[in-house]
Amino acid sequence: MKLNLNVLSSLLPCLLLPCIVLTNLASAKSVEVSSPDGSIKVTINDQPSLTYQVVFNKETIIDNSALGMQFKRAAELGQGFTIASTKRDKVSTTWQLPWGERKDVIDEHNELFLTFANERKLANKFSMRFRVFNDGIGFRYEIPKQAGLNQVEITNELTQFVINKPKEATAWWIPARGWNRYEYTYKTSDIESIDRVHTPFTFKLKSGIHLSIHEAALTDYAAMTLNQQRPGILKADLTPWSDGTLVKTQTDFQTPWRTIQISSDAVGLLNSDLILNLNEPNKLGDVTWVKPGKYVGIWWGMHVNETTWGSGDKHGATTDEALRYIDFAAKYGFDGVLVEGWNIGWDGSWFFNGDVFNFSQSYQDFDLKKITDYGQLRNVNLIGHHETSGSVTNYRNQMTDAYALYQKHGITQVKTGYVADGGNIKRIDEQGITRKEWHDGQFMVNEYLHSVKQAAKYKISINTHEPIKDTGLRRTYPNWITREGARGQEFNAWGSPPNPPEHTAILPFTRMLAGPMDFTPGIFNMGFNGLGDKSNRPQTTLAKQLALYVVLYSPIQMAADLPRNYENNLPAFQFIRDVPTDWQASKALAGEVGEYVIFARQERQGEDWFVGGLTNENSRVVELSLDFLDKNKHYQAQIYRDGENAEWVNTPYDMIIENINVTYKDKLTLPMATSGGFAIRFLHK
Ligand code: NOJ
Ligand code: CA
Repeated sequence: MKLNLNVLSSLLPCLLLPCIVLTNLASAKSVEVSSPDGSIKVTINDQPSLTYQVVFNKETIIDNSALGMQFKRAAELGQGFTIASTKRDKVSTTWQLPWGERKDVIDEHNELFLTFANERKLANKFSMRFRVFNDGIGFRYEIPKQAGLNQVEITNELTQFVINKPKEATAWWIPARGWNRYEYTYKTSDIESIDRVHTPFTFKLKSGIHLSIHEAALTDYAAMTLNQQRPGILKADLTPWSDGTLVKTQTDFQTPWRTIQISSDAVGLLNSDLILNLNEPNKLGDVTWVKPGKYVGIWWGMHVNETTWGSGDKHGATTDEALRYIDFAAKYGFDGVLVEGWNIGWDGSWFFNGDVFNFSQSYQDFDLKKITDYGQLRNVNLIGHHETSGSVTNYRNQMTDAYALYQKHGITQVKTGYVADGGNIKRIDEQGITRKEWHDGQFMVNEYLHSVKQAAKYKISINTHEPIKDTGLRRTYPNWITREGARGQEFNAWGSPPNPPEHTAILPFTRMLAGPMDFTPGIFNMGFNGLGDKSNRPQTTLAKQLALYVVLYSPIQMAADLPRNYENNLPAFQFIRDVPTDWQASKALAGEVGEYVIFARQERQGEDWFVGGLTNENSRVVELSLDFLDKNKHYQAQIYRDGENAEWVNTPYDMIIENINVTYKDKLTLPMATSGGFAIRFLHK
């Protein structure tokens, strides 16, 4: 209303006087849009320049922050633009995930669509769409076709996120544009002390409000990292191509959504579906062939140096070993067996020589047909593996043949890998010139999605390691079943340092806000080098390893340890056998970033609930109210928790398994040891 009056009053003189008065359009305009519950208010201003501001429960959480973008051969969209029109929409709907943390997802938001205009003749208009939910906001730029803007190269996205009093805010972050991609331990600091950071970038203001800045639906664009300019002024910093350009595209185009999840406490962030809500619906049609499940694999043995990826005496991927794993999987109810090191190319320094990988040719001691036939008789799928070592042209050239081969053998899931230092992805361009790209630049954003789309044609789901970060594209392409994109369990085998006790108490509030992670939990033998070797072992108790299956969501979960370590502890293994990977409902119950976290999830194919809780290096006792349980049912709680003498360093295996009868009225008091936790199955009766 306010806007319409403004526009009218500025246009009116135009009818009477020469239209120079159009500059009146530049009289300051500001437009507001609020969340359905009114707690979040976004204001967009066009004077003195284009900015937006976000207020939550009356506190300014993002102060006036710049909007706009700049191009190599065209004028900026931003400076000199004014709000020309607005359109509003209101959405309240529920949609369903084919697999996920919950079946029904509620999308309730208010939308404001604004067009911006400039008096100049060329490149004189663009639009922005803001969506405001009860759990945060998303906004994106939409650039139409127009004179002066056709093929474009973006050299700067001006978007800012301005945080007042950055010294009083606490942030949990990993550095961006580093050699180890997303695989860093998290730093905890005030905002003024951060470097260039990856998103999701999570922080807490002095008032206790928690925010996480990220993006949704990242396609055909460079990933956004955040770079601090003046203290508290975080600016979108897009990962460049090898030639320095940020984004190469053509009008019309739209950017990914820039997102800010907002909650008055830490747990609220965990219960947000904002990222998924900002993605497009499923584009693949029937996806019943995408199957959540659990798997084991010829994998950990390589990481702890018992076997090798390459050929020779210690070769892990032999036919006999694969058959043995299939027997183990069949016996204990697993759906799949991952086998790494099955194909030609691993000999020598595979890390640096991705060009020699052959994705159709097995090593001689690996009989693909025999193994997959054997698996099919036992209802166990072989899970394929394509390590590219970052030689993506080599992979691209073989991709369709490789997926076709797997499909022929009934393989429905492939783990891909892009082990290469940041900025060192090797591609051969159209002229045959070798270029080195970042894992999160526009080129690779497209390359990862290309693999997912190609795989879909062969009804194959993709689990990407060394991936581009998740931005919720699983909604649109449900065969992008999971990915890595943070430090996983592997770092506990050889990482320096391994993952510290706080790591998995930070992940849910940071990396996991983006989507599922193939962390590969379930190491039972912490002492593969002796418990005393703290530099190479999981720094957790056994109960915490079990808790990870509930806390770190992924529709496919690995039981990562060697079969013999599970057969040595079948009572504890029972939890991994029982825990599902596809959920009807999920609720984060309690937690503080980096301290502890508790999730309750209800299985999709039944009525049981599962709860996982874990803590950082501090032991603590939590009281768990069972009011999430069905009020009309009785349950047996099968509890796996740290024993009285448990602590992660010397007594990680001290674990109590107990069964007690409960209803929704009960409360459980659960002690967690240092870097400990608990896992509970609520079996309904
Ligand atoms: C890194 C992956 O994260 C890991 O799971 C895999 O075993 C190695 N690359 C080899 O592909
Ligand atoms: Ca990795």
